[in-house]
Amino acid sequence: MTTPPLFTTNLSRIFHHAPRMIAIVAIASGLGTTGVAQDGPASSRLVIHADQGEIAISRNLYGQFAEHLGRCIYGGIWVGEDSPIPNTRGIRNDVVAALKNINVPVLRWPGGCFADEYHWQDGIGPRADRPTQFNSHWGGVVENNHFGTHEFMDLCEQIGAEPYIAINVGSGTVREMMEWIEYLTSDQDTPMANLRRQNGREKPWKVRYFGIGNESWGCGGSMRPEYYADIYRRYQEFAKNHGGNRIFKVACGANDWDFRWTEVVMENVGNRMNGLSLHYYTIPTGSWGDKGSATEFGEDLWHGTLRRALQMDTLITRHSEIMDKKDPRKRIGLLVDEWGVWHNVEPGTNPGFLYQQNTLRDALVAAVSLNIFNQHCDRVRMANIAQTINVLQAMALTDGSKMILTPTYHVFEMFTPHHDATLLPSDLDCGTYAFGNEQIPQINASASRDSQGVIHVTVCNLHPNEPVNLSCDLLGTKVRQVSGRVLTASAMQAHNTFAEPAAVVPREFTDSRLTDAGFAAKLPSKSVVVLELR
Ligand code: AHR
Repeated sequence: MTTPPLFTTNLSRIFHHAPRMIAIVAIASGLGTTGVAQDGPASSRLVIHADQGEIAISRNLYGQFAEHLGRCIYGGIWVGEDSPIPNTRGIRNDVVAALKNINVPVLRWPGGCFADEYHWQDGIGPRADRPTQFNSHWGGVVENNHFGTHEFMDLCEQIGAEPYIAINVGSGTVREMMEWIEYLTSDQDTPMANLRRQNGREKPWKVRYFGIGNESWGCGGSMRPEYYADIYRRYQEFAKNHGGNRIFKVACGANDWDFRWTEVVMENVGNRMNGLSLHYYTIPTGSWGDKGSATEFGEDLWHGTLRRALQMDTLITRHSEIMDKKDPRKRIGLLVDEWGVWHNVEPGTNPGFLYQQNTLRDALVAAVSLNIFNQHCDRVRMANIAQTINVLQAMALTDGSKMILTPTYHVFEMFTPHHDATLLPSDLDCGTYAFGNEQIPQINASASRDSQGVIHVTVCNLHPNEPVNLSCDLLGTKVRQVSGRVLTASAMQAHNTFAEPAAVVPREFTDSRLTDAGFAAKLPSKSVVVLELR
């Protein structure tokens, strides 16, 4: 990973993107600054231009990523048909129900770094006959290939998600890619379509999204952008449309702050791609050595984590500006196809399995990131949190037959009304939340109108100790009713466990009321609130 630019207190530079969202230092009675006594809750003002929405928030911003890593696929999703754990054709029923409930729109697979070692033909046909392979990136375990193309497509069908397949460029071939696409999507009398039929699937699947390589600058081949751009051009030429299937081609994009990668790929690939990816992980300490514990941390790392998560806004802004030079009409989407918080693994677990707990802090990171994606929906067309089950910032954790939902899962559920809704531009005046010499805005929000005309506002209070009074002006519309739900807890470190699975769950939010201008709400400290306005 490259080093991010130093965070400064110049909020207008850092947050200048967010269409019309500005953080203004301390407009109210209290600064909300740690250690400084306040007379009462700080105040913030949100103006929502309900008459100005134009751009749809793609539901694909709420996508997931599942890799052959640790217990994400094996144990987390796939238990096999003979397992005592209730399953449908080998896929866990509890996990399917949980993922259906958050309307997962798109699922990226098989990696990650694993994708560039994956040879898809090892994962088809009778499972007993499938060859094994060494998973060199993740724990050095032996992969039995029991979860392959048919199992993945079955999972997508069971949860109602579109598949997004990462093609092996690092150790694969153009021919392998061509044959995989033909196997998946051809309805003709071709060798690969016939092989698929022989393996039990008569009809082709629809598969729109194909990523040409993963992290080709790193685990996907340590390529320079000039070299990758040429490789991409070659691969994409052979990514063929079969029948009515239309491929959306995704080029490997930058590692967080590597703007040169975006420059070079935009220059040399241009219209040969439909999307360009971006990977950004929030590392609480900022160091890949000791990233910090998922559950044992103080306010320094609460603040530091949220500050780093907010940098997603700067990153998207700057990559988009580069893309704008070649693509001012925003034909090419930016796909943040890996993001999330990366902590130290849970003590005693395999360091290669990336298993981590998930607290209220992670929920705030999820909410802030999703609000940022919403605000950038003119350019950001997809995002995939890493990773669905048991790995990194997961939706659910499993232990044998048991499953718990994480605070992050609840944020994804609370944000479902934004899927395919119209973004409503908003202006936000709020105070700052400072810790030491660092400051971030205390509030983070986005708003949308759904196809029924209902407005939803998702708003986070990032301060761990201070509530905030929010007044909201709704321009161009009148509402008759406000209701909401809130996700919060008494401690920053609160999380769900197998013994206490409902420690952090959304509850009814009663601290809001209509006003002449719109509505007002008192947001508890460290909270995520979704408000519904009818
Ligand atoms: O999500 C874990 C890993 O992070 C992925 O395999 C890789 O693409 C990234 O570096």
